[in-house]
Amino acid sequence: MKVAKTIKEAQSAVAEARRAGRTIGLVPTMGAMHQGHFSLIERARGECGFVAVSIFVNPTQFGPNEDLGAYPRPVEADLAGCEARGADLVFVPSVEEMYPRESVTTVAVKRLTDTLCGRTRPWHFPGACTVVAKLFNIVLPDKAYFGAKDFQQAVIVKRMAGDLDFPVEVVVCPTVREADGLAMSSRNAYLTPQERKQATALSGALRLAERMIRQKRPPAKQVIEAVRRHIAADAPDGAIDYVQIVDPYELRDVEKTDPPVLVALAVKFGKARLIDNALVDSGPARS
Ligand code: PAJ
Repeated sequence: MKVAKTIKEAQSAVAEARRAGRTIGLVPTMGAMHQGHFSLIERARGECGFVAVSIFVNPTQFGPNEDLGAYPRPVEADLAGCEARGADLVFVPSVEEMYPRESVTTVAVKRLTDTLCGRTRPWHFPGACTVVAKLFNIVLPDKAYFGAKDFQQAVIVKRMAGDLDFPVEVVVCPTVREADGLAMSSRNAYLTPQERKQATALSGALRLAERMIRQKRPPAKQVIEAVRRHIAADAPDGAIDYVQIVDPYELRDVEKTDPPVLVALAVKFGKARLIDNALVDSGPARS
């Protein structure tokens, strides 16, 4: 496994693989890897001849009072994890390598970024889209892997790639969860033991929403109220940022809950802001 710190090194490793006729898969991450990240690498490994992983805590997608400084950076463990899953290249650029001068260019995806997480974190998606566009241009992947845990990000990246004709297939992979249902996240490390227990309310509330929708398709308002009540009861230390039910393609709020719909929420526990979602499609219920 090659570790590249510069764009040039990464580009030459990818170019060599491309010359050898291998398909290039890219897994963009901010590190502090867990099985959620590894599942993307494993999927890429199964589908591509050359797997590149990027680890870059991208400052431009963090807000002024967010956790950029505190974000965990266990680089050695991350590299070992990538190697164990068969990554061929890990690109770990510095901030100066990615942003050597003031960048006056931003990739702005409209409308899809105004809702859900974009409502309270308007800086986030311009920052994330721009760095993903840069990574696509640096690595030129045939396929890029994203997690459904960040459903809105995956939808936005897919749309950006289509709108700007990036020759990449965006592959969205299922959310990996802890045994008690909590979606894996690098930010779970911020939770106190008490908050960690309460955080299971998020997936619990989503399962409740999914059950309600499958059984009776009540108006979205009713489902949202039930989800909010569930979280207030089971996670009294959690402050709800949003609970929304949207159509999973355009991310517009729906009034009726005819599948497919996406139930999405964000809840803050102290400095940890957790997100989760459930796609309720027209297929049979999952356990
Ligand atoms: P990060 O939060 O490190 O996540 C990297 C990728 O892992 C994302 O595609 C995310 O959806 C996926 N992921 C995280 N937790 C997951 C889980 N429990 N199950 C499945 N997939 C999971 O998302 C980012 O970084 C950044 O915004 C990035 C795209 C790298 C741009 O900076």
